[in-house]
Amino acid sequence: MSAYLSTPVLGWGRTDDPFATAMRTGRGPLWLRTEDGRHRIPLHVERWCAEPDSADSTLVNRALWRGLPTLDIGCGPGRLVTALQRHGLPALGVDVTPAAVTRTIGLGGSALCRSVFDRLPGEGRWATGLLADGNLGIGGDPSALLCRVAQLLAPGGRLLVEVEPAEVDERLTVRLEDGAGRLGPTFPWARLGKSATIRIAETAGFTAAGGWHSDGRDFLELVLPHARN
Ligand SMILES: C[S@@+](CC[C@H](N)C(=O)[O-])C[C@H]1O[C@@H](n2cnc3c(N)ncnc32)[C@H](O)[C@@H]1O
Repeated sequence: MSAYLSTPVLGWGRTDDPFATAMRTGRGPLWLRTEDGRHRIPLHVERWCAEPDSADSTLVNRALWRGLPTLDIGCGPGRLVTALQRHGLPALGVDVTPAAVTRTIGLGGSALCRSVFDRLPGEGRWATGLLADGNLGIGGDPSALLCRVAQLLAPGGRLLVEVEPAEVDERLTVRLEDGAGRLGPTFPWARLGKSATIRIAETAGFTAAGGWHSDGRDFLELVLPHARN
């Protein structure tokens, strides 16, 4: 499948920023730096560009057990969507960063260069959605993101989402920063722990169906009702 280019989304999706460079080289260091410069959140570029690790495999295996079409939202360089497809699962990655989509396709995976908020194939029919590696932060408005994901999933669909290990509920303005101190433009981001995620997910129509912990990372399974309200 070839890349389909959408409108870039604030902070991500550029061809010349630190994230695009990291996606091309497969190397960090890379951080999300808060606007006030007080915090730098590390982005795990090398892990994202490697084969799925044991915590990733818990996500992949849950999607495989379901055995149904899976949408990897903000797929980055594509290790999860590619692993799913290698096991024969129908799966698609979406990401706004062209270099990430190119890397996914280079691994043999399917990905569209499009925002999760753009029109996507199979809207309302995806059985499983993935939001891994802090992707609940996409757009900086988790409520809007989860409502959008609820539209993309089928009735009874499940979202496998990674949450922060700490009970945080933060809306941030950040920039991407590389090891040479180069900064991208500011954009909104969010960080949510388990309780905040469940609370916001419920307003988007999801129910928490459980959670798990693996290698210092925390995940939730959120489920939609079988009939649309
Ligand atoms: C924290 S990184 C996570 C990377 C990824 N899960 C991985 O395995 O590499 C966030 C990813 O979300 C993508 N992204 C940001 N905004 C997006 C949007 N509106 N729609 C789709 N992807 C988006 C970025 O390009 C980036 O690849």
